[in-house]
Amino acid sequence: MEVLHFIHISDTHVGPTLDADVRGALSSERTSRLVAGINRLPFDLQAVVHTGDIVNDPDPEAYRLAAELMRPLRVPLLTVVGNHDDADMIRGAFPGIGKPLGKDPQRHAYSMDLAGHRLFVLDAKVSDPQDPSGFLPEDQLAGLLEEVENTGGPFSVWLHYPPLDLYASWMNEYLLLRNGEDLHEALVPYAGRGGRLSGVFFGHIHRSMQIYRDGVLYSAVSSPACEFTAYPGPERIEFLSDCDPFFHHISFGPQGTVVKGYPVRDSSLQ
Ligand SMILES: [Fe+2]
Repeated sequence: MEVLHFIHISDTHVGPTLDADVRGALSSERTSRLVAGINRLPFDLQAVVHTGDIVNDPDPEAYRLAAELMRPLRVPLLTVVGNHDDADMIRGAFPGIGKPLGKDPQRHAYSMDLAGHRLFVLDAKVSDPQDPSGFLPEDQLAGLLEEVENTGGPFSVWLHYPPLDLYASWMNEYLLLRNGEDLHEALVPYAGRGGRLSGVFFGHIHRSMQIYRDGVLYSAVSSPACEFTAYPGPERIEFLSDCDPFFHHISFGPQGTVVKGYPVRDSSLQ
């Protein structure tokens, strides 16, 4: 089993124009720097996975701009629906996804096999008033489990929302996948020593954060546009727009999963 390398990005909040300002940051400029930094990495990649909030407001111009900014990526880009996204518009701007997952064709949920590793992409977006929390439709979880049972090999799960308690009260109240415990319980049998689950990867919280529970690794990557505070108490999060574009380099291999964080200010990526 070789080591496979992926890049995890999230929450670019692009557009609709190059000068669009998102909480004090030029999100398009940050996204361009992020893409350029990824392209300078001196090793082979399987894919880049974007775990949602590709745009700040779902309009076709924003997706056109996002696709233009990310087109220079030298490897395939896999997309996930965030609470700021629209599934149809994502598919229009970033065509060519994998095998549909679940029973609802309107959903942007699919699986994809890359070099023997299966990625499951979930769409847990909900409508108001539950937004910005998420909820995973039952048919997607059933489809995931069925496919895992019917296939062999390692797999990973990608979605926008954090599935579990973050020990951060405000985030827990407003940003979680509300049935994340169900997802966790379903995945635990595939975790641990000799298990097939390589990890669960998400965005939404605009901060690099890892959770380890019952042998399952959960990992979130920050946003290139704006970081959030994630303090334990109930105070509302703060928006920190003076951050660097940031990505995670994720390696799946025979000894387990490794996650490395890179701010694009690193001289080798400039
Ligand atoms: Fe976001």
